[in-house]
Amino acid sequence: MSLVINIYYTGKCGNAKKFVNEMIQSGTVDLIRKEPGNLGYDYFFCEANPETVLLIDKWKDKSALDAHHKTAMMNTIAELRKKYNLSMRVEQFYQLDGESVGDFDEVISKRTAIRKFSNNLLSDEILQKILEAGRKAPTAKNMQPQVIYVIKSNDAHAKLDLATPCRYGAPVCLLVCADKSQAWSSGDYSSYEMDATIVATHMMLEATNLGVDNIWVKNFDSKILKNEFELSENIVPVCLMPLGYRAPDCPINPMHNVRKELDSFVFYK
Ligand SMILES: Cc1cc2nc3c(=O)[nH]c(=O)nc-3n(C[C@H](O)[C@H](O)[C@H](O)COP(=O)(O)O)c2cc1C
Repeated sequence: MSLVINIYYTGKCGNAKKFVNEMIQSGTVDLIRKEPGNLGYDYFFCEANPETVLLIDKWKDKSALDAHHKTAMMNTIAELRKKYNLSMRVEQFYQLDGESVGDFDEVISKRTAIRKFSNNLLSDEILQKILEAGRKAPTAKNMQPQVIYVIKSNDAHAKLDLATPCRYGAPVCLLVCADKSQAWSSGDYSSYEMDATIVATHMMLEATNLGVDNIWVKNFDSKILKNEFELSENIVPVCLMPLGYRAPDCPINPMHNVRKELDSFVFYK
């Protein structure tokens, strides 16, 4: 997981720009860019406030940033900041970029229902990883009855929107179905829905793991889906999963942290 740090330097009488010039002229910027794990060290000038300069500082991981903080360059930067009397505001972000969060507890805590997506597309590489996680899911008797439709085109969006109000603007939706004729069955029981659910759960958690926002949707009209996407009789839509990146004004789901206590549903016998 790479780190992105935004540092806003603000001063008076053009001091922020003078600071940048001296950082560059003294060779300090070049030295920082050559440090192991530095992915970028670039200044940007602020249109709204000419006395502010934004530094976007990117590091491969936290240990690269920690090593940078221990170098002599930090003193040089601090002295120059003092010389030009600059105030500083810092924002730090983790950039997932399809890299894994890595910590399963963090993944299951982070996952939450997203109901407003931005237009940002996810890469084919990330989508592939999500689908691959579904492929690895267990199914009854390993029959693998899942059938997944990747809904990406404008035409497919329009068809899907006829069947559900719950796409929430996502650029990609996975329509996870089960082929009843392919599922394990015994008597009047068939595992098709359970199998497809496990497949979808794998994909949902992998999406979160890769920094891709998602939601599980059951509010769809199966008949319309079957008509619009010409699904054969034995294909049953089980779950719809919008995928993408949350919009900046996406509301926080108030239900996310509302969970029953363990002792209300776990019984030790
Ligand atoms: C089986 C299932 C069906 C769901 N169907 C919908 C749905 O049709 N529309 C929707 O907006 N959210 C739907 N959700 C999302 C839940 O409302 C949401 O997961 C729940 O409130 C818990 O919040 P959290 O996911 O942020 O922890 C569904 C979730 C599940 C597991």
